[in-house]
Amino acid sequence: MTPWKQKSRILVTCPKGVSEYLKNEIESLGFPILREIDTAVQTEGTLEDTMLFNLHLRTAQRVLYQLQTFKVISPGELYKKINSIPWEELIHDSGKSAYICVTSIADNPQINDSRFVNQKVKDAIVDRIRDKRSQRPDSGADKDKAVVHVYWKNDQVIVYLDTSGERLSMRGYRKIPLLAPMQEALAAAVIMATGWHGNAAFVNPMCGSGTLAIEAALIALNRAPGFLRNNFGFMHIKDYPEEQWRDLRKKARDYSKNTLPAKIIATDIDSFAVDAAMRNAKTAGVDHLIEFQTCSFENTPIPKSKGIIILNPPYGERLEAKEINHRRDAEKKETRAGKTVILRKASARDDQQSKPGAPRGLENIYQGVGDFFKSVGRAGNWRGYIFTGNLEMIKNVGLRTKRRLLFYNGDIECRLLEYELYADSKKIRKE
Ligand SMILES: C[S@@+](CC[C@H](N)C(=O)[O-])C[C@H]1O[C@@H](n2cnc3c(N)ncnc32)[C@H](O)[C@@H]1O
Repeated sequence: MTPWKQKSRILVTCPKGVSEYLKNEIESLGFPILREIDTAVQTEGTLEDTMLFNLHLRTAQRVLYQLQTFKVISPGELYKKINSIPWEELIHDSGKSAYICVTSIADNPQINDSRFVNQKVKDAIVDRIRDKRSQRPDSGADKDKAVVHVYWKNDQVIVYLDTSGERLSMRGYRKIPLLAPMQEALAAAVIMATGWHGNAAFVNPMCGSGTLAIEAALIALNRAPGFLRNNFGFMHIKDYPEEQWRDLRKKARDYSKNTLPAKIIATDIDSFAVDAAMRNAKTAGVDHLIEFQTCSFENTPIPKSKGIIILNPPYGERLEAKEINHRRDAEKKETRAGKTVILRKASARDDQQSKPGAPRGLENIYQGVGDFFKSVGRAGNWRGYIFTGNLEMIKNVGLRTKRRLLFYNGDIECRLLEYELYADSKKIRKE
């Protein structure tokens, strides 16, 4: 039977701490949850079903279709077991898709470099295909064709087809990343955590490259995030049912709305950031649905209706440097060889604001956000959210939090703080 129709386990990975939201998404697509860990959810389905996951899941990173699981005790045995899988039925040996990338996670005392595992697995696959077909696919680190992922822990090996290829977070709209942008999958999970679905206003001061506002627009429109991408790992597996993929996309398009019931507003003090956010929104096809403005957060226009205000303020230089290093490492692994990753400081002004003792230090910014929330509270019933990796700064907001949710932005432990903004929001700041 072709694997396209064969039911197997499917492991869907996600940013750390986001699995609760991913689990809800998988369930609402009608699939069972077999297991949930901090960075992944296990379900089951056919290889065809992975197309649906890649198209619709907002909080996922990779959709891994389980091919085989077995026990081995040495790299030689690993080669033999991998070599016995009928790869010639899965991987192309000629044409544009005749290319394979192997990734792995090895937690085994015999292995101190996962590149060794990648090489062994790649040799086993390529040798098998050459023996059966007398041609062989090319191989390398690019994830834009077929990708095989191997998980090896002690004597247990699981072999997957990585049906996503590049991370699903790389939706394709963020052409201009700035300092400390949120990953798209994380931004989607944060919005889900607020309970916002699009029927009330969404106000996002300090929007940076616009990730939160763009993800909010996609959620409110019911627009499938995979719609923006035209390449996935599954497209390079033999007998890829292209017609069926087109049908899935068409159904998703028919389901998606063209207008928003409520406003989405995104502002930032840095005009370069606003420009980048607008251009990213244009690539995502939602620029006409978001109101952009260059202004300090306190001057963000608040509609008369009700809704949520969500800010992701600067974390400060030390944490931002940590975030940049983490992302550089990740993107070095993720991006195609030779591609340059643009990492630009949002602006000299932003840099200055992060410095202690600078005209507007971090304490002042967080305190200002609290004051801003109080002033909004006087205008009606709003909920305010701060997403931050600087846990020290939270006390400066000076308002009682209703909820504190744990997230991670890369390596940085973060909180999403919820504030109920009534005219009488409890003031706890010690004067
Ligand atoms: C951590 S970044 C936001 C990143 C954003 N979530 C993204 O995904 O790109 C913080 C942003 O706050 C902005 N900012 C700093 N001080 C500000 C102020 N006083 N008023 C408005 N924006 C400010 C910076 O320009 C920067 O774009």
